[in-house]
Amino acid sequence: MDPTALRAEWLAAIEAAADPASLAELDQRLFGSKGAVVELVRSVTALPKEQRPVFGKLANTVKQEVEAALAARRERFAAAAIERELAAPDFDPTEPGPQPRRGHLHPITIVQNELVDLFTSMGFAWEDGPEVESEYFNFDALNIPGDHPARESQDTFWLDSKHLLRTHTSPVQVRTMQRLTRHGFHPPLRVIVPGRCFRSETVDKSHEHTFYQMEGLVVDKDVSVANLIHTMKTCLRVILERDVQVRLRPGFFPFVERGFELDVNCPFCSGNGCSVCKQSGWIEILPCGMVHPNVLRQGGIDPEQYTGFAFGMGLQRVVMLRYGIDDIRQFMGGDLRFLAQFPEVPR
Ligand code: DAH
Repeated sequence: MDPTALRAEWLAAIEAAADPASLAELDQRLFGSKGAVVELVRSVTALPKEQRPVFGKLANTVKQEVEAALAARRERFAAAAIERELAAPDFDPTEPGPQPRRGHLHPITIVQNELVDLFTSMGFAWEDGPEVESEYFNFDALNIPGDHPARESQDTFWLDSKHLLRTHTSPVQVRTMQRLTRHGFHPPLRVIVPGRCFRSETVDKSHEHTFYQMEGLVVDKDVSVANLIHTMKTCLRVILERDVQVRLRPGFFPFVERGFELDVNCPFCSGNGCSVCKQSGWIEILPCGMVHPNVLRQGGIDPEQYTGFAFGMGLQRVVMLRYGIDDIRQFMGGDLRFLAQFPEVPR
């Protein structure tokens, strides 16, 4: 066996390989079990001792060169394949590659985002307030003094004598009015306040100790109940994705005078009566009312000049109606199978 002649033959064969498949076949013939290159190196042992070092060295060099030639040819095939793909008429360099799976927004976040979009498009500003609130803003400023029975209905997590976990988003009403008037501004004022609230509730199908509300406040000259109804109807139509009918019933909240419970016609039976609406055709959806003069005064606004309306939407309730969820504990249950049912985060 003449290693030099064999090398010339093999290198020519590698060069002549027409496609990746025949190159792979050649590789097998040279380096597979009983492959020609392997045999060449092995043939050293059959030689007389004095010839072995020279022959062995040459055989190894040939082996390395052939290996390198195979690798180089393989690379050229790969590069040519990419070139062909790039040159093809249907090649689209803007097409996105494979994308990793995205997560899901929490349903409360989905609905809150839609509400914020809607209200900001109507000229409302997004206000925020602290979750650890003072007794003054949570109660007193809202016309609920220390001995008022309305405090009883909000089982409160007290932190110390003057601070608590806010039981509703309403304290941000007076915070916002004070901030505005302190700097000499005056109404019109339109704000929404989405946020987390806390009450020492016994948790069951429809009660949670931690829940989400979205407060709304509008103060201006000549604001009326008609403005309130129109705003609420618009909001519910968008969120429930259908035309809605609403009705007002009297409701008592110390920080509004006239206070209302606003009902919407039942989305499950279109008002005909079903188990969800307890055969009444109506579902209680949000409390609201005309801002009490004392609350406007606390905010530094003259109730003789201005009037306003406010509402406090329970976000979970709206989300439950929208998606047909029947247990409020799902929201914070941490079960990924629940979340995976909502649309993936848009790209
Ligand atoms: N803050 C009240 C609650 O959590 C709800 C509420 C009622 C808010 C009437 C309002 C309103 O703004 O006008 O029970």
